[in-house]
Amino acid sequence: MTVFKAPEYIQDLFNKIACKYDFLNNCISFGLHKIVKKDCVKLLEIPPHAKVLDACTGTGDIAFFIKKIQPLADVTGVDFSENMLLLAEKKLQGVKLLKGDITNLEFEDNTFDFLTIGFGLRNISNPEKALKEIYRVLKPGGKFLHLDFGRKNLAGKFFEIFTPVAAKIFLKNAEPYKYLIKSKRVFPEPQELISDFEKSGFEFKLRKDYVLGAISVQIMKK
Ligand SMILES: C[S@@+](CC[C@H](N)C(=O)[O-])C[C@H]1O[C@@H](n2cnc3c(N)ncnc32)[C@H](O)[C@@H]1O
Repeated sequence: MTVFKAPEYIQDLFNKIACKYDFLNNCISFGLHKIVKKDCVKLLEIPPHAKVLDACTGTGDIAFFIKKIQPLADVTGVDFSENMLLLAEKKLQGVKLLKGDITNLEFEDNTFDFLTIGFGLRNISNPEKALKEIYRVLKPGGKFLHLDFGRKNLAGKFFEIFTPVAAKIFLKNAEPYKYLIKSKRVFPEPQELISDFEKSGFEFKLRKDYVLGAISVQIMKK
């Protein structure tokens, strides 16, 4: 199965669904996505004054938990959807927000101590280029946290069935969420991802699975 992921298409898709994004996330995950996001940020043990980039920040959930858990962190969020960023702006305090493409970041080499990306890499047509950028902007020894769907099991199947129904009811349009389901189906499982990350130069540090493995986080080190 091939999934159309041209950057303009993805940008337009997130601009269109932004107004209902948080509501639908809460609905289709029964609020679990927030528990997972908070827990995986804790795994990073971010010290005060660390420089952190939340890439594909969207409406800023992960940046929010970074700042909540470590208020002294210097946090930046980057995303290429203006509408998602407008919502992040309302949610966040003390976080710099920038419009930008993760495959072409404007930061100097070795800038960040931590880089997080949640449910983002799956939407990028050229993930190798994004991984190169992530590696480049992280300081040596810096940590990269990747969060997304994990194993394609029964819990994941439930999500695939329930999501388009919820999107049809609340967004009045199931199409964008049909794309998300397709992208989930072709996305590599965590073990394969870890090996892709290793090929990009990262060293594996930790993996944690949630919801019977349907969601997974991997932490890698530069
Ligand atoms: C599914 S949302 C995830 C948002 C947030 N990280 C979360 O966990 O809720 C994916 C986000 O990635 C952004 N995105 C996709 N491709 C991107 C790219 N090449 N550069 C920057 N942002 C991108 C989209 O605009 C969208 O806001």
